[in-house]
Amino acid sequence: MPAYLCKLATKGREIILIDAFAGPGVYENEETGPYSKGSPIIMCEQAEKHVRGKYQAYFGNVNRQHHKRLAAELQETHISPDVAHSTLLSSNDLLAEVAGTLTSQTVFLYLDPFGYKGCEFSSLRPFFLRPSFFSTEIMVNLNVADLPRLAARQSIQDGEMTEQVAATHRLLTDVLNGDWWKEILLGRVRRQDEQAEEIIKGYVSQFAGSFRFTGYCPVPDMKGGRIKYYITFFSNHPDALVLHNDNMCKAYNEHIVKVRWDGSMFADQRTWKDDIPRDYDLLDHMIFSKLEKLNQGRFKTSKEQLWLAIITEPGCFMKWTKSEYNTRIKGLVGDYLVFEDVTKTGRLNDKARLYARGTA
Ligand SMILES: C[S@@+](CC[C@H](N)C(=O)[O-])C[C@H]1O[C@@H](n2cnc3c(N)ncnc32)[C@H](O)[C@@H]1O
Repeated sequence: MPAYLCKLATKGREIILIDAFAGPGVYENEETGPYSKGSPIIMCEQAEKHVRGKYQAYFGNVNRQHHKRLAAELQETHISPDVAHSTLLSSNDLLAEVAGTLTSQTVFLYLDPFGYKGCEFSSLRPFFLRPSFFSTEIMVNLNVADLPRLAARQSIQDGEMTEQVAATHRLLTDVLNGDWWKEILLGRVRRQDEQAEEIIKGYVSQFAGSFRFTGYCPVPDMKGGRIKYYITFFSNHPDALVLHNDNMCKAYNEHIVKVRWDGSMFADQRTWKDDIPRDYDLLDHMIFSKLEKLNQGRFKTSKEQLWLAIITEPGCFMKWTKSEYNTRIKGLVGDYLVFEDVTKTGRLNDKARLYARGTA
C-alpha cells in the first residue's frame, strides 16, 4: 500500500479502495499476536498517511458482528465514516454498487475470501472491463487447499452427483469463468500442489486480455507445508509488476525461512538471503540473453525495460528482487556491459540503456 499510494499522491484523480471481504479489522492469531490490524485498517491508515482527502474506501462484510467491529475500529482509528464506509453487504452487492459509481477514478480492488462464494467472475467484470487509461488494480486471494474437496472426485467416480456437489461445481465454474477446471481437478491424477498451480495459472489467464500484467504468489500454511492459497494480481502498470515481484519474493522467502528455523536458537539471526539459494548465474544469463533479443531493434534497452522483460519470463517472477538485479548490473558494467547515460547524470539509473560489451 505505501508504495502504491505514494505514486498516486501527486495524481489528480479520486482514489477508490475496495475491500469486499473486509472482516472485523482486527484479528488474533498465533503468528501475529492478540491485536493485529486487518486489511481495512491497514488500507485506511496508509491512505490517511499518503492520500488524505483524495480517497474513498468501501468495506464489505456479510457477518454482522464483523461489520460492527470494523465500524467501531475505524471510528477508534479516527477515520471518518464519510471516507471509509463499512457496509453490511455481500461482496457481489458491494461490487455492483461501487461499479455503478465509477467513472474515471483510480481503483484498487482487494478480495480476500475464505472460500469461493462471492468471488464470481461476473462481479469483477465491470472492474476489469474499464478502459485501460483509467487505473485499475485488482488483487484476489484464492483458497486452493479446499479444491480437492470441492471437486469431489471420489463422489463423481462413484456416480454420486448429489445436488450439493453440483452446486459446488457451478460455483467453481462461475468463479473460474468456465468449466476448464474439470480437466485439471477431475481428469488425470496429479499431485495436489500441481493441480493448484494449474488452476491458478488458468484463473490468471482469464484476465490476460484485460490486463498487461498478471501474476501470483503461493502462500503456504503456517507450518510452511502445503500451499493454502495464492495471491493473484492484475494490473496495466509495469510498476505494479515490479512492486509485487519484490514484495512477494521477500514475503514468501521470509516465511519459508521463519518456518524452517522456528524455535531454534538461530531463528533471530537468519535472514532469507542466508538460506534461500539466489542463483545469480541464472540471473546473469537472463540479463545477457534478454539483452541480445531486445537490442535487435533500433534502440538499446533501458535498465528498467530489461528488468520487466526478465520478471515476465515464465519461472522468473519472484525469483530475485529489483535490488539484487541492480547489484548484478552494477557489477557487470565495465567488463561485460556498457551503459548509455541518456539522462546525462553520470549514474546507472533505470533509464540508462544497456548493451553487452563488444555489441554496440
Ligand atoms: C479472510 S477474511 C478477511 C480478512 C481481511 N482481509 C483481513 O486482512 O483482516 C474474510 C471475511 O469475509 C467475510 N465474508 C465471507 N463471505 C462474504 C461475502 N460473500 N461477502 C462479504 N464478506 C464475506 C467473512 O465473514 C470474513 O470476515
